[in-house]
Amino acid sequence: MKFETKVVRAGVRPDPTTGAIVPPIYQSATYVLEQVGKDKGFDYTRSSNPTRQLLETNLAAVEGGRYAACFASGLSTVDAILRLFNPGDHIVSSDDVYGGVSRLFNEILSRYGLKFTYVDSSDARNVARAIRKNTKMVWIETPTNPLIKVTDLEAVGEICRKKKVLFGVDSTFATPALIHPFDFGADLVMHSSTKYVSGHNQVIGGYVVMHSKKMYEHFRYMQKSVGAVPSPFDCWLVLTGIKTLSLRMARHSENAMAVARFLENHPKVKRISYPGLESHPQHGIARRQMKNGYSGMMSFELKGGLSAGKKLMNAVRLCSLAESLGSVETMITHPATMTHVSVPKKERLARGLTDGLVRLSVGIEHKDDIIRDLKKALDA
Ligand SMILES: Cc1ncc(COP(=O)(O)O)c(C=O)c1O
Repeated sequence: MKFETKVVRAGVRPDPTTGAIVPPIYQSATYVLEQVGKDKGFDYTRSSNPTRQLLETNLAAVEGGRYAACFASGLSTVDAILRLFNPGDHIVSSDDVYGGVSRLFNEILSRYGLKFTYVDSSDARNVARAIRKNTKMVWIETPTNPLIKVTDLEAVGEICRKKKVLFGVDSTFATPALIHPFDFGADLVMHSSTKYVSGHNQVIGGYVVMHSKKMYEHFRYMQKSVGAVPSPFDCWLVLTGIKTLSLRMARHSENAMAVARFLENHPKVKRISYPGLESHPQHGIARRQMKNGYSGMMSFELKGGLSAGKKLMNAVRLCSLAESLGSVETMITHPATMTHVSVPKKERLARGLTDGLVRLSVGIEHKDDIIRDLKKALDA
């Protein structure tokens, strides 16, 4: 099946008892056994659930992997991935990752003996240089949150293959509609389904896709043993949302391109980062590895710095000042006080995440309305 067909159809069959075209929400905690030792494939919803199973089958097919495992959030998915490792193991990570991921790595997992080195992975040579004897995984976010840096997945995949370390990719910003990290040698592809995959600001969720059965068994074991699993209703909402992923990503990308060009040419804008612009430092890599568009995420800084950025964020009317991204509504965010507040200021500034940075998640409204809103707010 082609991608557009997979998002609608993969894994989903009409309900066998009623023929309902939309699968039911199996909102049940437990399952009645036919007799001792004989169930129908389900025993307790923490371990598995029919609605979750449908979603996992769909997500694996959409990403081009063999298995998918869903968790209650993107962060609990990253946590389950990191539990593949043992105290003393080392992970090389992109430096510009979502603030919650930095917090998980630095404040929680490092207390249990995991070691992290952060590199600017937009230059793949930095990744190769950081790998040590005890390195077990390279963790790449591309494009990154919030600086929208792009990593050459093919180059990093080659490094990981040669050095025999696992290659994990947080592909939340690109989605499977625009990048397939498995094509570049990734072992694990992770998404926060809170964002584009569900797409409607209704759920918190996450998942990981892989080819390896052994790894899949680890994730099944994490679902059962830790229990950070999504509710059947949340799974159903993701299964509904994903059906329009390819359509939405095309519109997000088209709108974002128009908004980025408008901002790039606006006299009050000091710098803008959007991979579709020729001025983006990794535009060439993005053009090679992102298919059908550059997604809806961008960040920019105004000439007046923090105070001008704050004025803009308070003046917009259509764009919603909110913490998330990847939904149908355009959302504007101040990373320094919102999504990345848990990253210490010194570290933020070292990465280039200034107090004046504004992040924009361009939605699927009409692009003229989004641009008009931004223009009015900039003029104000
Ligand atoms: C790139 C990226 N990864 C992971 C996460 C965490 O996902 P969640 O909020 O679903 O836990 C986020 C959240 O913003 C994100 O932007």
